[in-house]
Amino acid sequence: MASNKPKLEGKVAIITGGASGIGETTTRLFAAHGASVIIADINDSLGHLVAASISPHGRCSFIHCDVRNELHLAAAVDHAITTYGLLDIMFSNAGIAGPITGVLDLDPADLDHTLAVHVRGTALAIKHAGRAMVAAGTRGSIICHASVSGIQGGFAPVAYMTSKHAILGLLKEAAAELGGKGVRVNCVSPYLVATPLVCGVPGADVAKVEKLLCTGAILKGAVLRADDVATAVLFLASDDSAFISGHNLVIDGGATVVNTTLAKFIEGIYDLA
Ligand SMILES: NC(=O)c1ccc[n+]([C@@H]2O[C@H](COP(=O)([O-])OP(=O)(O)OC[C@H]3O[C@@H](n4cnc5c(N)ncnc54)[C@H](O)[C@@H]3O)[C@@H](O)[C@H]2O)c1
Repeated sequence: MASNKPKLEGKVAIITGGASGIGETTTRLFAAHGASVIIADINDSLGHLVAASISPHGRCSFIHCDVRNELHLAAAVDHAITTYGLLDIMFSNAGIAGPITGVLDLDPADLDHTLAVHVRGTALAIKHAGRAMVAAGTRGSIICHASVSGIQGGFAPVAYMTSKHAILGLLKEAAAELGGKGVRVNCVSPYLVATPLVCGVPGADVAKVEKLLCTGAILKGAVLRADDVATAVLFLASDDSAFISGHNLVIDGGATVVNTTLAKFIEGIYDLA
């Protein structure tokens, strides 16, 4: 039976991109589990709103942070230490959809921008959180956000795909380097979730987007939602995963391990008969 005991009591977490989507849901879940959470995001109005809505019941604050900017990430980590005394958890989650073009039409500036948010942003988050954890002797947990697009082609446009593949490289090297200092580094890789990043336009019909996403899913009868990803992040952040490091937790209902060629072939054979 699942325990109702708070899993992050007394812990301090930074969530980049915590103002919206999966980041916001994770912020709320962490706070509900007793953590003090800092939202580090470029969306000031949403960030303040989410922090204020959590603050009456839990501890949450907002800091403006563009993850492409090293000074901003260093300041977010300093803010955690000045305000709450330490840093236990970094969820490097900030992300963008990137350009919706294939490689033949790729604008190098768009590629650079996508790589800067996802790869540079994740590397800097690991660097500054890792430094603070090592300096304080904290057995911290750093969680990166990749995607099924970091594993297999065909899920997203090329700039996004490329950047998410790179995050898995960062994960492995960071786990190797920080393991000796007692800091764990892991990753989550979800299938598609109907957040603002995927829905594109504000006010999009989330139910319709979810229905569309379900048609491509291998696991039927379930819809992947931000809550499911946040629960996986909570597991990697908490002591429940105390010996897990260097792991990419794939939340995809089997999408990246099931090839549909055989099923299509068999269907085709019956059609020929
Ligand atoms: N939604 C999906 O289907 C899906 C699937 C796999 C992985 N992901 C990953 O999940 C993460 C969160 O995305 P989401 O779907 O919740 O989208 P979202 O658009 O709801 O949230 C993204 C957040 O990142 C912030 N952000 C963007 N650029 C930033 C920057 N330079 N610095 C700081 N913050 C910045 C945005 O302001 C926003 O609050 C991303 O890394 C995304 O790639 C999403």
